[in-house]
Amino acid sequence: MPAVVLVGAQWGDEGKGKATDLLGGDVDYVVRYQGGNNAGHTVVIGDQKYALHLLPTGVLSPDVVPVIGNGVVIDPGVLLSEIDGLAERGIACDRLLISANAHLIMPHHKAIDKVTERYLGKSKIGTTGRGIGPTYGDKIYRMGIRVQDLLDPGILGQKIEAALTEKNQILTKIYNRRGLEPAKILAEYLGYAERLRPHITDTSLVLNRALDEDKVVLLEGGQGTLLDIDHGTYPFVTSSSPTSGGACTGSGIPPTRLTRIIGILKAYTTRVGSGPFPTELLDEQGEWLRQTGGEFGTTTGRNRRCGWFDAVIARYATRINGVTDFFLTKLDVLSGLERIPVCVAYDVDGVRHDEIPMTQTEFHHAKPIYEELPGWQEDITGAKTFEDLPPTAQSYVRALEEMSGAPISAIGVGPGRTQTLQLRPLV
Ligand code: GDP
Ligand code: IMO
Ligand code: MG
Repeated sequence: MPAVVLVGAQWGDEGKGKATDLLGGDVDYVVRYQGGNNAGHTVVIGDQKYALHLLPTGVLSPDVVPVIGNGVVIDPGVLLSEIDGLAERGIACDRLLISANAHLIMPHHKAIDKVTERYLGKSKIGTTGRGIGPTYGDKIYRMGIRVQDLLDPGILGQKIEAALTEKNQILTKIYNRRGLEPAKILAEYLGYAERLRPHITDTSLVLNRALDEDKVVLLEGGQGTLLDIDHGTYPFVTSSSPTSGGACTGSGIPPTRLTRIIGILKAYTTRVGSGPFPTELLDEQGEWLRQTGGEFGTTTGRNRRCGWFDAVIARYATRINGVTDFFLTKLDVLSGLERIPVCVAYDVDGVRHDEIPMTQTEFHHAKPIYEELPGWQEDITGAKTFEDLPPTAQSYVRALEEMSGAPISAIGVGPGRTQTLQLRPLV
């Protein structure tokens, strides 16, 4: 009954899409368990590039059942256009299963996300503007509208009416925006209901039965450990639980069934949006990483902030998620450097910290303490085995492994499906 979790170990965009796709041939189900279309997971297959936002990456593997779990927030219009976009490229999503308990992103959530960010001004989170925070907020506040409500037009109408009675006051009286029309939104969402109905099911039941039959389930996280609502750099986080605990609550698969936790780790660090980032490079080296690594957002197109590898964060990800294996991505991007700095600890107001400091104030003051590792000049994008890597690249990987506290079991040397060095099986 292997249930494998794949989780971002940094601030997102580590290469989760590529890693999930790589395992596609070995698994039966791929489940998104949290987040929504704030995610952007890129997969490159031959000369084709796919950017998936709500659909699990498993949709690209012909024998996989893709599942959207209860912990996800779904913008149904976006989901349907994603499905249509793939259909145009010859990829069918007929097998897709959607949890009846997942929550729906409504127009007022998107409106409130955008307007609250604008009001925060310089203190803004830098959200993706997709309505993620307000939708999870209403879920926790027990005011959410769920996928199953699409199946009952009477209830859906009542819930939209009730939500807008409050939200229209907020939009008009606090933010000076126009209110939204319940009847129009009901008609729109009933249209989505028609198309989504065949996909809606009790996904926890399906997944647990599949595990009973020894099928392999891969749980594909969105975002990353440091964006977790509990364990991330709060408040500069997303509003869900990307860490491995969230894989259980977001899918209805219990912790006792998880067999492996794979952390996806970039060979350097990136972050989109606001918030502390100790190893960030604001100079030409940061720009070099951005250009060489193609660090521009898959979802919003924003420049990703770039910096050196941070081993404190990697160790933290091991601890919080119980990482059993790391998949190190984008090692190829570092080719051509004489020496590569790696952050091994922080200096916080004159005191050395080997772990993430307890408070956000301290974390904001954290200055990286670097160790420099020798670089390599060779292009490694054609490497097929670990031994093909130059000795200094091998040492870089071994050093990261040592500092991060879990074995590196796969290494990405390019965006393509085949550009992966597998050191041991992941499933
Ligand atoms: P995700 O959100 O974690 O799935 O990551 P994104 O897709 O947002 O960003 C990762 C980017 O790096 C994508 O453009 C991938 O195609 C690319 N990528 C993934 N692994 C590698 C790798 O090993 N080397 C290189 N050069 N690119 C990679
Ligand atoms: P994937 O799955 C990187 C960031 C946003 C912002 C913060 C809150 O592709 O790794 P939100 O819209 O979620 O309320 O924004 O979280 N963020 C991501 N950063 N990768 C992502 O997803 C992200 N999803 C959200 O930039 O800082
Ligand atoms: Mg991404």
